[in-house]
This record gives sequence, C-alpha cells and structure tokens, in this order.
Amino acid sequence: MRPDDEFFLTFATRTPGARVLDLGCGTGRLSLAISGKGCSVVGIDPDLPSLAAARAQPHADHVSWVAGDSRALETTERFDAAIMTSNVVQEILDDTELARSFADIAAHLVGGGRLAFDARDPRARGWEAWTKARSSKVVHLPDGDSQHWYQTTRVDEQTGMVDFSSHEVTVDGVEHISRGPIRFRSEDQLRAMVAGAGLAIDDVWGGFRGEAVGDGVGSLVFTAHRP
Ligand SMILES: C[S@@+](CC[C@H](N)C(=O)[O-])C[C@H]1O[C@@H](n2cnc3c(N)ncnc32)[C@H](O)[C@@H]1O
Repeated sequence: MRPDDEFFLTFATRTPGARVLDLGCGTGRLSLAISGKGCSVVGIDPDLPSLAAARAQPHADHVSWVAGDSRALETTERFDAAIMTSNVVQEILDDTELARSFADIAAHLVGGGRLAFDARDPRARGWEAWTKARSSKVVHLPDGDSQHWYQTTRVDEQTGMVDFSSHEVTVDGVEHISRGPIRFRSEDQLRAMVAGAGLAIDDVWGGFRGEAVGDGVGSLVFTAHRP
C-alpha cells in the first residue's frame, strides 16, 4: 500500500467503528478501505464520473456516497475523523471556498474529532519536475502497458496557481489529456486557514512517516482536531 494511503487509513481507523468523512473521495479507494476496517464512511465528491466509478466498486454499498462539496453535509451528521487525501485542498482554488470547507468539517466533527489532509509544499517546487522527460512512468496493466506524464504549462508563484496537463497513452496508442489548474499554498497560509476554522493543529509533517517539513516527500501533512 502507498505510504500516504497507509497514513490516512491508520489515521481514520484509529477509533474502532469510527464515523469517517472522506471529503473529495474521488473514485473511493480510501473510503472503501476505511469501510473495510469496520468504520462507517461518507464519501463526498463534486466530480460525478469519479463518484460513478466509486459506486461501481466491490462493496460500494457499504459507503454513503454524496455528490457535492462540504455544503452537502447533513446538518445533524457528526464524524470522529475527516480526511482530504491526495491534495484535495489544492483542487479547491478559491480561498473562501477552502476556508468554508474547513469550517464545515469543524462543524461536523465531534469534540476531539480529528482532521488529516495533505498538500504539496510550494517550497519543494514540484511543478519543475512535471515535464515529459522527468515525470514519465509506465503503468503495467493486464491489457498491456500505458505511459503517463505531467507537463507544467504556467506557474504564478504570487498566487500559487499552477496549470498543468496530465497525459496518458493507453495500450492502443491513444493519448488522453486532462488539464487543470491547482493551487499551492504555503504552510503558514494553510495553518491560518485551519486555525481560522476553529481547529487546533496537532502536527505538520513533510511526509507520511513523520518526517520534518522539508525532509519528507515535498508534502505538508496536517493533522488537527476540534477542541
Ligand atoms: C486528486 S483527487 C483525490 C481523490 C481521492 N481523495 C484520492 O485520494 O484518490 C482530488 C479530488 O478532489 C475533488 N474536489 C475538487 N473540488 C472539491 C471540493 N470543493 N470539495 C470536495 N472535493 C473536491 C475532485 O473532484 C477530485 O476527486
């Protein structure tokens, strides 16, 4: 299992039978793994094709899948733990929207309930490695190999906005390209937003094995709790 998945799975399942929110669940890889450990999981994502893929997975009926963002949470719903994994916060481009997402999470955590999320650290300048030459990798699938790479197309270091394209050449030679801006925020910016939502920050690491910021994998890994 990937170190980040292992970290979030351990974090979310620390309390047996925990109620867990997976905000920005994508195709549900972690929601399903957490549910498989006996937790009750709500997976929320605004991307309908991702949710459809999640719903098609084995044991998908053990998870509550919700289309939307944090505003889709039921008023009375409460969680022991919440996660936002694989840099979900970077896909939320607008600061007001990210602040609202953190506030919604805080409002739906029980006292002592915990949040964990990751974001790429802008100090690691990861976008510089997103070229075909430096980021190409081959994925071995049952039908044959496919090739993947990233290409940065625009960087605005003032705002942290980075445009990039993601390329996949499938076994039949067809190239699929998706594009999307993401936003890099500094550790201080993220600390201020989490604290502004009324959450107490427990740790900020640079990787998923407790590394200091700057010594890990170029990430900022936050854990916080509702006092
Ligand atoms: C890189 S994917 C990560 C998916 C999943 N968490 C994982 O670990 O594979 C980022 C996800 O964030 C979702 N997302 C974008 N904006 C969001 C928002 N405002 N609230 C919740 N999720 C959002 C996207 O639809 C996408 O599925």
